[in-house]
Amino acid sequence: MIPPSTVARPSTTLDLSPITATITLSALAHNLSELRRLVHPTCDILAVVKADAYGHGAPTITQALIDLGIQRFGVATVQEGSALRAHGVTQPILVMGGLIPSHIPELIHQRLTPVLSHEDMIYALAESLPRHAPPYPVHTKVDTGMRRLGFNPESVVSWLDSKPFESKLAIEGVMTHLADADDSNQEFTEQQLACFQTVLTHVKRAGHSIALIHAANSAGIMYHPSSHFTMVRPGLMLYGYTTRKPRNSDIALQPVMNVSTHVVHVRSAKPEEFIGYSRGFKTTRTSKIAVLPVGYAHGYSRSLSNRGMVLIQGQRVPIIGKICMDMMLVDVTDLAHVGIGEEVVLVGKQEHEEISVEEIADSLGTLPYEVLCNIGTRAHHVYRPH
Ligand SMILES: Cc1ncc(COP(=O)(O)O)c(C=O)c1O
Repeated sequence: MIPPSTVARPSTTLDLSPITATITLSALAHNLSELRRLVHPTCDILAVVKADAYGHGAPTITQALIDLGIQRFGVATVQEGSALRAHGVTQPILVMGGLIPSHIPELIHQRLTPVLSHEDMIYALAESLPRHAPPYPVHTKVDTGMRRLGFNPESVVSWLDSKPFESKLAIEGVMTHLADADDSNQEFTEQQLACFQTVLTHVKRAGHSIALIHAANSAGIMYHPSSHFTMVRPGLMLYGYTTRKPRNSDIALQPVMNVSTHVVHVRSAKPEEFIGYSRGFKTTRTSKIAVLPVGYAHGYSRSLSNRGMVLIQGQRVPIIGKICMDMMLVDVTDLAHVGIGEEVVLVGKQEHEEISVEEIADSLGTLPYEVLCNIGTRAHHVYRPH
């Protein structure tokens, strides 16, 4: 029989997790107040919390935003909407992604608001509603240039005039999505907005009064005031990031997420020694190497092998060799003493140094969205007020 261990168990799962995303809720509040400075006070805000709130943890982020006065949320799928309902979110939730008929029973059961982009879904939803049910609120999307979801601009009015909208469906919102709002050349966005405006004029002329008219993602909010209409749909900027450089200097966003791990082993290596898989790195000096328990299984891209940096003791230290599935190696030769359990920041600030999500995204040739989703959704989340 194995004797009972005398080693104390860790008090929280935090102690067991290799990768921790610390979420600072005051930064979320700050970003929201920066956003509010950009939009008209009467403009509604729908917070986009899809993909687990871009890796920040949708249930807690949604609740924090409710506490900050946000009353509408956007997700990609019925599944994400149901998960929020299961966490007690009663506010309107807009399902912005594509739908198929088999999603409808759950959509109705959870009182989620669909974005309709295809006539089949208009009829499928109308037919699924109980006979004398009150009109079900829906939004409809107009494709003004994204070429993804949405009705052709010319067909929108005829769909709003169609039978399902006479009694079964109530049109609460009309939206479009901007394809290129962060481009410093604003021409394409202006064309999209002009097209949307024409559709809205025809919708109005046809006698439809629409409460929620929306087009702006974060870049629209920041760079295209004419895209704000009666509601905006921020995602990325709430979490403290932008895709355009230089950033809009009128606002100062604060990153909400800091991702950290810890050293699990420290070893020395002689000059000219190969390190890791595929002999991916060769030392040039007597080296001290720290092993970190994070790899591509945790969403930390293998493409950062021999390229990425982490922070230890407030210093930038390089990743050496190939990033493994659940480990990676960093060169800590230039640090005084590095011990097992020492904190390592993968994303965010440590003392006066910072590794931003944008820096990692640039290095990978991708966008902050992908870095946040990959790392954030796999990390153990810890929420702190400040
Ligand atoms: C339809 C829609 N609206 C709004 C957003 C939010 O965009 P952003 O995160 O750039 O603010 C997204 C995100 O991709 C989206 O798909």
